Amino acid sequence: MSTTATLSRLFAGIEPDMEAVDRLFRERATSGVALLNEASGHILGSQGKKLRTALTLLTGKLIDYRVEKLIPLSAGFEMLHLASLVHDDIIDRAATRRGLPTINARFGNDIAILLGDYYFAKTASLIADVNDNRIDRLFADTVATLVEGAIMEMLDARHLDLSYDRYLQRISSKTAYLIASCCRGSAMVCGADDAQIEQLRQFGHNLGMAFQIVDDILDYTGDERTIGKPAGNDLRQGMVTLPLIYALESDANGHLAQVRLVVEEPGEHNDLVPSLVAWVNAGHGIEAALEDAKHYAALASDILNTFPAVEERVVLSELIDYVLVREK
Ligand code: FPP
Ligand code: MG
Repeated sequence: MSTTATLSRLFAGIEPDMEAVDRLFRERATSGVALLNEASGHILGSQGKKLRTALTLLTGKLIDYRVEKLIPLSAGFEMLHLASLVHDDIIDRAATRRGLPTINARFGNDIAILLGDYYFAKTASLIADVNDNRIDRLFADTVATLVEGAIMEMLDARHLDLSYDRYLQRISSKTAYLIASCCRGSAMVCGADDAQIEQLRQFGHNLGMAFQIVDDILDYTGDERTIGKPAGNDLRQGMVTLPLIYALESDANGHLAQVRLVVEEPGEHNDLVPSLVAWVNAGHGIEAALEDAKHYAALASDILNTFPAVEERVVLSELIDYVLVREK
């Protein structure tokens, strides 16, 4: 089954609320300034996975579903995610995302910076609508951590000697923290106790770690039409991720010099990237990275199974499986 079909099946039970989140998102993402509105409309025309929206809503079903708080919270986290992608594409000088030209490619960096800021401001207003001080703090901590993750990524670029621990710290900050915040925030607004809030934070963290490791695998194994961005991007940008760390550990034979050139002088040796991507695919790097993703998924599953066996727990459990097998 395709990724889109799997997600629509999984999200069928919360579809009306996902639509309500989408409506609120679109309403807030609309500006009276034509150029800003056009840039925002360009993003709204692309189909994301809405994973953060769904996770926020589904987590609430494990506690006491308070829809009036969950809708602005979900829309806020989804919009924060989009704001961070718009800024990330400027930093990466990326040309395509979700199969469409990026905002920076189509409208230029100035508009992309301002659209990211606009979304960021609108996120703050959605968070204010939740009307819960703990969520204000969670939002601030999440933004700060995302920025730290993005800075770590900048510092790590061009460094071949990247440690496994540093890689985990980076993906925890740039990806897993926001996913954990969706679950933690949802638990907070639905009246969970402190222990449940912490459990659900850990659930989201582990799911987020699995998600980003698979993202880094797809950068090697995926094809451009499916993942919506060119494969081999990380390597081209001098970014060392888990499949490469493992590939170098298991068999750098004859490839270390080429990898060093590509990583340390990004953009200068793009002709070497396809053969290095093929080399990583042929070795143990992908399998070893997938084992780590499965480890985090299993941790997420163990935590999930301590919650009551409601229908949505099954959906969340299938969502964990989906994260491991997804194609985009
Ligand atoms: C995409 O991951 C990028 C992120 C998850 C976070 C980037 C965060 C920022 C730029 C700072 C936050 C900014 C605001 C306005 C809150 P990736 O680079 O692994 O994925 P990709 O290959 O799709 O780019
Ligand atoms: Mg990026």
